[in-house]
Order: sequence, then structure tokens, then C-alpha cells
Amino acid sequence: MHRTHSCGELRATDINKTVTLSGWLQTSRDLGGMTFIDLRDRYGITQLVFNMETDAALCEKARKLGREFVLKIEGTVAERYNKNAQMATGDVEIIVSSLTVLNESKTPPFTIEDDTDGGDDLRMRYRYLDLRRNVVRESLMLRHKMAKVSRAYLDSLDFIEVETPVLIKSTPEGARDFVVPSRMNPGQFYALPQSPQTFKQLLMVAGFDRYYQIVKCFRDEDLRADRQPEFTQIDCEMSFIEQEDILNAFEGLVRILFKEVLGIDMPSVPHMDYADAMKWYGSDKPDTRFDMKFVELNDIVKGQGFPVFDNAELVVGICAKGAAEYTRKQLDELTDYVKRPQIGATGLVYARVNADGTIKSSVDKFYNEEQLKRWADAFGAEPGDLILVLAGGTDKTRKALNELRLEMGNRLGLRPKDKFSALWVVDFPLLEYNENDGRFYAMHHPFTSPKPEDLYLLEDEIESPVAKAIADELAVVETEPSTGSEKIITQAEYNYMNLGKIRANAYDLVINGVEIGGGSIRIHDRELQAKMFGILGFTPEEAQAQFGFLMNAFEYGAPPHGGLAFGFDRLCSLFGGADHIRDYIAFPKNNAGRDVMIDAPSAIDDKQLKELAISVTV
Ligand code: AMO
Repeated sequence: MHRTHSCGELRATDINKTVTLSGWLQTSRDLGGMTFIDLRDRYGITQLVFNMETDAALCEKARKLGREFVLKIEGTVAERYNKNAQMATGDVEIIVSSLTVLNESKTPPFTIEDDTDGGDDLRMRYRYLDLRRNVVRESLMLRHKMAKVSRAYLDSLDFIEVETPVLIKSTPEGARDFVVPSRMNPGQFYALPQSPQTFKQLLMVAGFDRYYQIVKCFRDEDLRADRQPEFTQIDCEMSFIEQEDILNAFEGLVRILFKEVLGIDMPSVPHMDYADAMKWYGSDKPDTRFDMKFVELNDIVKGQGFPVFDNAELVVGICAKGAAEYTRKQLDELTDYVKRPQIGATGLVYARVNADGTIKSSVDKFYNEEQLKRWADAFGAEPGDLILVLAGGTDKTRKALNELRLEMGNRLGLRPKDKFSALWVVDFPLLEYNENDGRFYAMHHPFTSPKPEDLYLLEDEIESPVAKAIADELAVVETEPSTGSEKIITQAEYNYMNLGKIRANAYDLVINGVEIGGGSIRIHDRELQAKMFGILGFTPEEAQAQFGFLMNAFEYGAPPHGGLAFGFDRLCSLFGGADHIRDYIAFPKNNAGRDVMIDAPSAIDDKQLKELAISVTV
């Protein structure tokens, strides 16, 4: 028998019991007459005692053991002289009577402790050793618990877990695919799924009604702290539902996770329109742990001779509570921050509301005290507050102010990791125009349905950018809402740009500024789906070749359906208070998309390449 108890199990009530434990040597302390060893397994640590006086040979043997040796010991549970209240087993120790070395260990390349001395790369190379560390193991245990609670919840709502294929077809929409060559079909490739989207819709056509899957997805995109090339979704789909049903079902999942995993009672999750999120926070994933909403100032700042504001499409700011004391140096730092190329603002205007109510701004030359008071009123600013203002093109300025708001949130300690604020962002635009390609892309994905009340915007619509060129005749006048200026555009352009105004039945769940999940009500009508592909620039033939299987299925009684997917790794790291999803993945890839432990990706030999009918020149 290898063990009667785990290393985390023994308590004062076990004193005098004879026990057998197995585990790894965490640390060893040789005090001359006595040797103490901390024996570790997944469940905890138990202190072992070897006494020179009672068994010199055994004590000598214990002294020679190295870190991470695998041991089996037998002994008697005794009350500990120096109790350790920090440890669950801290009241007891084991007086060892027999010791077996089950396996030796080389000295590990880094210390297996919470605060390890190992750098990222080293720990990734020896991930199996990194996984021995409490913090890493606890992260994966949290992940296990999250999966378990999710499965139980979805099961209780009659969702069934169905596995969908991993070798599928490459499609041009979305991120880049990882592809797999087919030996049996030379020159042809499978793609790994970016998500099970079309399959889950086909399961709805098949009448499964409620599907879920905790599923690996693959996307060949640039990596960031919250992105891995292979990641996991809690993927779901439901039939005969409306948007509210889906939001309710998955708000329920989030709440039960908060309750069961963190013991937090989550208040109901508010809804915010995409348009409001952009207006108030400059982001479709606002961090609502703190307020600091944007205030638009066009009406009160223009026409005072300050060219930066006069020429701007949008003048917008935030009010940082209690930050009026910021020094000139701190304000310069903030100015440098917003001027970084990634943020792209041209400058920063500030106004301090002093303790005595007077206001001092960086543009005093253009605005007198009375005018600045109007700024303060617009923000509801009080003595001690700092107003920060950016100006420029609407989208760019909002984006930059979003970054500044988050930075101020960090500086003012308004984004603690143990505070959670969730939000449903709803009514996303259906389509997003890409200036570079001169075409629309689906903002969520091409299967998302337009809001019925916006369908009229599709009516005059032209099938593709090519058709747009042909229909290029009648001119109409369009008024730019923010500046009131008019410009002449063609009818076709007008119709085409109208597409950008269509809202979708699409929604995202955002927690603490992280996009945790997203989904939509789907198109279930062949005609509308075909039209959508037309807008996205597919010819009917291309649409049929790529997505004919789905459109054909819609001709055989497709029910109204919709769903969503949560990014499971993101959800786990949010719950665990980590910045990086890598910490919640057992064997993650590094920033270059490599697994440095197994050394993948790697070259394959010529024989394999030949079998796959692939020739490689690098
Ligand atoms: P979407 O593309 O929004 O939707 O993905 C859903 C969620 O998956 C997470 N996610 C990622 N997590 C880690 N690494 C990545 N590279 C990565 N990419 C996405 C995010 C995201 O919100 N089929 C649709 C869902 C649906 O419509 O039902 C889909 O995949 O948290």
C-alpha cells in the first residue's frame, strides 16, 4: 500500500495513529539531532520528523535525500511542538519509522514554491514541474470546478453535450485557420474549428433544442495576454428562444459560478446598448467597476478660438475624482501616455478644480473661469477633481479616451481584482466597414440575424461592392450628424453605408472590461442568409461552395435559434484574479505560439511531406 492518507489530511484527532504517506520532498531541514522533511502531494504538506537518538540510520538516510525525491514513509502521528496555524496539517507531524525512496530526482531547474525563482521560459520548458507549484495547481483546480459547475447547471436546464468535429473545412471569414493536410486527398486541407458555430446550428436544425460543449477552438491570430491559439469555449445553442431567454439562461450560469466558486452573490447584470457603451466609455467592453463616464463637450467648448477644439469632430473628457493634486510631472506623464502611437491622441487638455472651487486649466488662454465652470458642471466635478479632455475624430478620440480612462482607473486604484462588475452589451451593429478593404465584415459572424426593426435598411440594399459600382447613379445629400456638414454621395453609396446602421441581435457579456462571451440570434432563413453572404462580398456560387451545407439545411425546417459562447480560459483567469489566461491552461503556448516543452511546431521529415503531397521551401 502506498498511502493510508494524503499529505493534506492528518489533524490533531489522528494523533497516535500509524500512517503511510507518499509524496515529494518539498524541503528538508537538518538540525543535527533532528531532520525535518516537508512531504508534499496535491492535497497539502505534512511535516516528517527523523530523530538521530531514536533511529540514527534512518535519520542519516533522510539527510541524504534531495528536493523532489519521491518518498513513501510509515510512522506515527504526533502532536507538533511548534504548531503552524498557516497549514491545515500544522498541528501534527509524523515520527517516521520507515522510509522508502520510490524515485530520485535531479535538482529541479527552479524552486517549486509559490514565489519561484524560475523565469517564464524555464517554467514553460519544465511545465510538469511548474504544475507542481501550489499556485499553478490551484488555478487548474479552479478551472475544474468551473467546468463542473457549468456542466451541472447546463444539464439542469436540459442542455446536452454533443461533440462536434475537429477536422473541418477552411472558411475565409473570421480569423486565420490552422489547417491540416489530408493524406488521402492530396493537395487538400482540413481546418481546425475556430468555433463549432455551424455545427451547433445544424444540431438545432436536427431538433436537439439545447446543446452545449466545453470545446477546444483554434485561431491563428496574434497572441495577447487574453488570447491563445487553442483555447476553450463553453459553447451553447438553443432553439425556439428570443434574445432575453439566452441572456437569462447564461446570466444564470455566471451567477451560479460566482456563488459556488467564489461565494459571491452577483447582482443582476445590466444591459447597455453598444451605441451607449461607445458614447460613454469609448469601448464595446467597458470596465464598469468604476464610473468615470465620458462627457461630450462640443456644445460648450467650440467657438472660443481654440483651434484644436474648433476643428475637432468630437471633444470629450472624463473627470478623475480626487486627482486635482496631480503634479505637473504626472500630467506630463499622462500627456505622453495618450500621445503614444498605440493610443494616438495629439495632446491632452486638463482642468483642475481646486479646493477653493477655482478652476485652472491648460487652456486658460482661451477659456475664462466662467466658461471653465460650465465644463465642471457638465462633469458634475467637485473641488479636488481633475478633468481630462481629448479632441479629434470621433472614433479615434473615443478609443484614446477609453485607454486614458482605464489608465486613470489603474492609477486611482479603481480596478481591484476582487471586485466584479458584469454587463451585457447588446444591439451591436450587424456589419463593420473596413476602410482598407472597402467592404463590410460581419461584426460578430455571418450567421447573426439583423434586428427585425432594422431589416428595412437592407431593402434597398445592393448585393455586393461590385453591384455598388454598377448602381452608381443617383446622388443624395447626406448630413454628417456631429458637424452638420453636407456631402453629396451616390444613391448606391447611401444604400451601402446604410448597412452600417443595421443593428444585430447580438450581445456580449463583459466582466471587468474583459469580453467573456458573445453570441447572437441566428438567421434561419435561406434567403436572408444568402443575402447576408452577398453583402459580405460572396458571389452566390462562392456562398454555395463555402456554406451551401448550412443554407441547404435551412430548407429543411430550421427552427428559430440562437446561442453564445463564453471564453472559458478568460472566465477562469478572471475568477482567479490573473491577467494572463496562460496561467489557467495546463500546457499553454508562449507568445510566439510555441510549446517550448515539446518543441512544437516543428519541421516534419521529407517522407511525411511526400505522403501529404506537400513541398516546402522556407
Ligand atoms: P467569439 O468569436 O466571440 O464567438 O468567441 C467567444 C468567446 O471566446 C473567447 N475567445 C478567446 N479566448 C482565448 N483565446 C482566443 N484566441 C479567443 N478568441 C475568442 C472570448 C470570446 O468572447 N461562435 C461564436 C459564439 C456564438 O455566436 O455563439 C464565437 O466563437 O471570450
